[in-house]
Amino acid sequence: MTILNGKQIAAEIRSELKAQIATLLNQGKRAPKLGIVIVGHNPASETYVANKIKACAEVGIEAVKIAYEDTISEQELLAEVHKLNSDTSMDGFIVQLPLPKHIDEQTITSAIDYQKDVDGLTPENVGRAAKGLPCIVSATPRGIRELLSRYDITTDGKHIVVIGRSNIVGKPMATLLMQKHERGNATVTLCHSHTAHLKQICLSADIIIVAVGHPGLLTADMVSEGATIIDVGITRVEDPSTERGYRLAGDVDYEQVAPKCAYITPVPGGVGPMTIVSLLQNTLQAYSLNSTL
Ligand code: GUN
Repeated sequence: MTILNGKQIAAEIRSELKAQIATLLNQGKRAPKLGIVIVGHNPASETYVANKIKACAEVGIEAVKIAYEDTISEQELLAEVHKLNSDTSMDGFIVQLPLPKHIDEQTITSAIDYQKDVDGLTPENVGRAAKGLPCIVSATPRGIRELLSRYDITTDGKHIVVIGRSNIVGKPMATLLMQKHERGNATVTLCHSHTAHLKQICLSADIIIVAVGHPGLLTADMVSEGATIIDVGITRVEDPSTERGYRLAGDVDYEQVAPKCAYITPVPGGVGPMTIVSLLQNTLQAYSLNSTL
C-alpha cells in the first residue's frame, strides 16, 4: 500500500510555480494577482482562506483578501463581483463557499467572468469542461488528476466510482475523468445519496473518489483488494483530547480500508494541499489569459 502524499507533491509544485513566477518577474512582468472574497466568519473557511493566502505568498502570487460581514446583501456582493470582473489588474478571483443562506451561490458564482474564474465554477467553464474545450478546471478535481499523474496511476479504461455530486468536486471530477485525455478515458460511475447498491458498485471500482463530507462513509467491505482510494472529505469532528478541540476526519474508514489498497490519500495531507496548489496553477493560467500583461 502506498500513501499518496499530497503535502509533498504540493510542495514540489509550489517550488516549480515559484521558479516560473520568478522568471516572469525577471522578464520585467508583474506578479500574478488573486482576489479572495470571504463573507462572514465560518471557521473552516477562514482557515482555508489563510492557507490560500500563505500559499500565494510562498510562490510570489499577490493575494488580496476582500472580507465582508454576513450582513452583506446579495446585490452588494454581486456588485463586488462585477467590480472584480472589470478590474484589469486582478487576474483571477474566488468567492469562498459556503455563503450565508440569504445569498444564492449559483447567482454569485455565475456572475464571475469565466476567464477570471479560478475555481472553475461558472457555467461557461463547466460547459467548456464537459465539451472538452480549453477551460479553467475546478481546483480539487485538477489537484486529484495531478496527484494521479505524479504517482503514474493510470485511468485509461479503468472503472472509477465518484461518490458525491457537488458542483465543486463530484460533478467536475466525473466530467474530467471521462474526457479523451491522458489522465481520463475512464468509465465513470457517479454515485450519490439516492444511489442503490452503492456497495456493489464500489466493489467493481479500480479507483474510488469520495467527496460527500460524511466521516467514515467508505468502509472496508465496500473496497476490493488493490483499489486506489481518494478521500476528499475533510470534516471537523469534536475531539476534546486535542488542543484545538477537534480533529479532521475524511470520508474513508482509513484504518480498515488502507490495508486493502494499492494507493490511498490520507486526511489531512492528501487532497487538501493539492486543491490549494491547483488554485495557484489556475491563477497562473488566468494571468496568462489576461491581455493587460
Ligand atoms: N469551499 C470549500 N472549498 C472551496 C473551494 O475550493 N473554493 C471555494 N470558493 N470555496 C470552497
